[in-house]
Amino acid sequence: MADSEPGSARSDLERDFGKHGEIVLPGDAQPPILTAPVRAALHQWLFEMNAEKELQAVGLKPRSRCLLSGPPGCGKTTLAHHITARLGVPMLVIQSHEIVGKYLGESGSRIGQLFRQARRDRYGVALFFDEFDALAKKREALGSQGADNERANITIALLQEFDRFDGLLFAATNVTKEIDPAIWRRFQMQIEIGLPGASERYAIVKMYLAPFEVADDAVTAIAEALDGAAPSLIKEGCEAIKRSMVLGPKMGLPIDLPSIMDRFANSASASEGMPEPALWSSRRSVLANLAQVEWLA
Ligand SMILES: Nc1ncnc2c1ncn2[C@@H]1O[C@H](COP(=O)(O)OP(=O)(O)OP(=O)(O)O)[C@@H](O)[C@H]1O
Ligand SMILES: [Mg+2]
Repeated sequence: MADSEPGSARSDLERDFGKHGEIVLPGDAQPPILTAPVRAALHQWLFEMNAEKELQAVGLKPRSRCLLSGPPGCGKTTLAHHITARLGVPMLVIQSHEIVGKYLGESGSRIGQLFRQARRDRYGVALFFDEFDALAKKREALGSQGADNERANITIALLQEFDRFDGLLFAATNVTKEIDPAIWRRFQMQIEIGLPGASERYAIVKMYLAPFEVADDAVTAIAEALDGAAPSLIKEGCEAIKRSMVLGPKMGLPIDLPSIMDRFANSASASEGMPEPALWSSRRSVLANLAQVEWLA
């Protein structure tokens, strides 16, 4: 399904959905590394999606709507893509703020068009609304005129469409407190993906250092240095290490672990509003700790 030849799944999907967002296909998904409770919740969900008949017997349907929340770079998009890939369906990534139109009435009709197309779609495309708070703001916080009135209408349109849509639907947000409660309730699952703990950090470091094989102690020390970092920043750190290993000697740069991590800390940082990970908040002691580990065989 990955090609973009005319008549292929990708070109059909792009023709039908291109104006609403970006299509991502199952073959491009990566599994995220998640905490045990989140993994357990997802395992249960995937299991029930494959047990439609048993559930039907007691008058239930598999859950199909999931709200993902948590800080930036912790894997909300990655996770939704992974789940839809496990189910073998493409996913449409919709930037919520792009749906909010400039003209009154425009957003409601865009939402209507999008869901009509999704209900007709033969590939069973899953919908993923990114930055969902831009779309489903609490109505009580809105006024009654102009743009606020338009936003309230968007919420009403969404409520109606959610109730009529049988397919998989995800939304992601960093600010759960802004989501309208009636919309919130339409999601049968609300899963929070927070910063990784020590064991997840270790697994993330190991995964992103591949194909380099690094001693366990060094993986642990790098994971500790990045305590407090989102997986996206951990990934950047691991890529910085790999770049240094490949290019450092050619550029005359030292490739001992403290030097590499010091250079990384000078060229990257956690995003605004996030806590400072150990490498930045206690750089000196973290680098001293990294100097203690056997790094290169
Ligand atoms: N839990 C994770 N395990 C492994 N890799 C991850 C994880 N979370 C994020 N990443 C990596 O970090 C990058 C950004 O992740 P992603 O876009 O899924 O984050 P997000 O939570 O959707 O962020 P945002 O709120 O900014 O949209 C991806 O390239 C992904 O590979
Ligand atoms: Mg995202």
